[in-house]
Amino acid sequence: SGIITLDPGYKNTGSCESAITYLDGEKGILRYRGYTIEELAEKADFLEVAYLLIFGELPTRDQLDKFHEDIKDQSVVDEDMKKILDSFPKSAHPMGVLASLTSALIAFNPSSVNVSSEEEMYRAIVKLMAKFPVLVAWTLRKKEGMPLDYGDDALGYVENIAKMMFKKPNKEYRKNDVVINALDKLLILHADHEQNCSTSTVRIVGSSHAGLFASISAGISALWGPLHGGANQAVIEMLEGIKADGGDTKKYMAKAKDKNDPFRLMGFGHRVYKNFDPRARIIKKAADEVLGDLGVTDPVLGIAKGLEKEALEDQYFVDRKLYPNVDFYSGIIYRALGIPTEMFTVMFALGRLPGWIAQWREMRLRNEPIGRPRQVYVGENKRTFIDIDKR
Ligand code: CMC
Repeated sequence: SGIITLDPGYKNTGSCESAITYLDGEKGILRYRGYTIEELAEKADFLEVAYLLIFGELPTRDQLDKFHEDIKDQSVVDEDMKKILDSFPKSAHPMGVLASLTSALIAFNPSSVNVSSEEEMYRAIVKLMAKFPVLVAWTLRKKEGMPLDYGDDALGYVENIAKMMFKKPNKEYRKNDVVINALDKLLILHADHEQNCSTSTVRIVGSSHAGLFASISAGISALWGPLHGGANQAVIEMLEGIKADGGDTKKYMAKAKDKNDPFRLMGFGHRVYKNFDPRARIIKKAADEVLGDLGVTDPVLGIAKGLEKEALEDQYFVDRKLYPNVDFYSGIIYRALGIPTEMFTVMFALGRLPGWIAQWREMRLRNEPIGRPRQVYVGENKRTFIDIDKR
């Protein structure tokens, strides 16, 4: 009852109070639990950041070790899950596969569904932190036609992910610090971003007390779209398209500005950042470093830099405060690491997992009510039914 405020896209509506991530879009500030993204990307590793996001404080060495040990204890995925994966065609998009496998995980871990105490939540969280990277690695390996394997508990969390993803059956896996550091940084930069589309999805699905895994699976589906996490795949496809078209960036700038053309400059613009996206700055620098360290040259990096320069000087983009976002340069790094384009958004999901978990946990611990937006009805008034033969 009462007056309903209409706010399509929730541009000005807060859905919750949250103590996890602070974002100032005018100033380009992003902090997890009070720590700047710049400092975390430089000094922390991904598991540390996951702990920080989920539990609110940076872990002590003992706390981090215990969290990691608990994760390792849960790192086996039921063998029958492989049958589910096997029934997908190789052409299936990895995001659809990952969302399905995450959902399927519920059937194999029923005790993780109806959780409400902090202890039960912790067990569900640890299970997901342990099994999700296996699902990611299997999704990639299936796509590449490689045998499915488990991780190695002797390794660090991210190092283990790298091995699970990249190990070739006929070669010994060698740790590459450039790869591990790049992955750590990318995963940290993606780890949370307050009430974006997928995170709001996780919170709203979880608000019905559907379990953690179901909420995360829904978040994965929301992330898939090209206006959200799917933009990282769309950016590389766009850059490849421009390259194949002779590298004519001006032509694509004109298309992006043309209101009769559906083309948008992918990786540009953000609902909240109206000055710059601090994650994009870090990633741009990292792209140069990682490609340099790996000795990779990628012609689309030059095209990306050219596009960015033109856009930043263009009145259309200046007027609308459109800047490169997190997805603009990340794909170039993923590609240099040997990750196929269709897997880019899966990498985003892997990074976002702790953020989704933290937001779900916060929502449950705060006993938030079920999410249930209102609407303004604009349909027909009351009408009398007409029999099918008389229509
Ligand atoms: N290229 C060309 N024009 C754009 C772009 C773009 N990438 N982004 C926004 N605009 C224009 C838009 O047409 C509109 O113009 P006008 O005022 O003349 O109608 C104005 O800028 C405002 O855009 P909007 O669509 O109303 O803004 P929004 O807050 O609803 O959308 C966005 C934000 C990120 C969906 C949008 O900027 C976009 O589609 N960008 C490309 C996709 C992308 O890179 N997404 C990743 C976002 S960051 C990471 C993540 O969330 O996963």
